[in-house]
Amino acid sequence: MWTPPPLLLPWLLTFLLLPMPSLAEVGTASFYGPPYLPTACHGSDEGQFPADNLFAAAGQGIWDNGASCGREYLVRCLSSATPDACAGGRTIQVAILDQAAALNSMPSRNGTTMVLSTTAFRMITQQSVDVINIEFTQV
Ligand SMILES: *[C@@H]1O[C@H](CO)[C@@H](O)[C@H](O)[C@H]1NC(C)=O
Repeated sequence: MWTPPPLLLPWLLTFLLLPMPSLAEVGTASFYGPPYLPTACHGSDEGQFPADNLFAAAGQGIWDNGASCGREYLVRCLSSATPDACAGGRTIQVAILDQAAALNSMPSRNGTTMVLSTTAFRMITQQSVDVINIEFTQV
């Protein structure tokens, strides 16, 4: 029977116990408010919004021709031009429901990676800012 060399097992364990390699990307986020309907993903269905109102519209880079509909992202505020705009290191999870370029209401900034619902944006910011730098990871 093959026995692992004595150092292999501890080495493997160390490797497995390390934090998962992060697939996080860096981008920007703005926010938008109502009217949220209809959306590019699910039209006028009022039942499409998650109960916690944490959702977002996908910017050009992640819209993926609509394939992003229903994808979920972990989003964390990294920084902003306004000092202390990020609310601690809080991470939220948002579902993509719309396309940033096709929103019914103006985003606070054009051309961002993601446009967060007002609830989502407020949850990770603590100052009145229009745009923040984010770290995001698809779930
Ligand atoms: C975003 O673009 C639209 C259309 O070009 C423009 O009307 C609007 O003022 C822009 N919004 C911001 C915040 O720059």
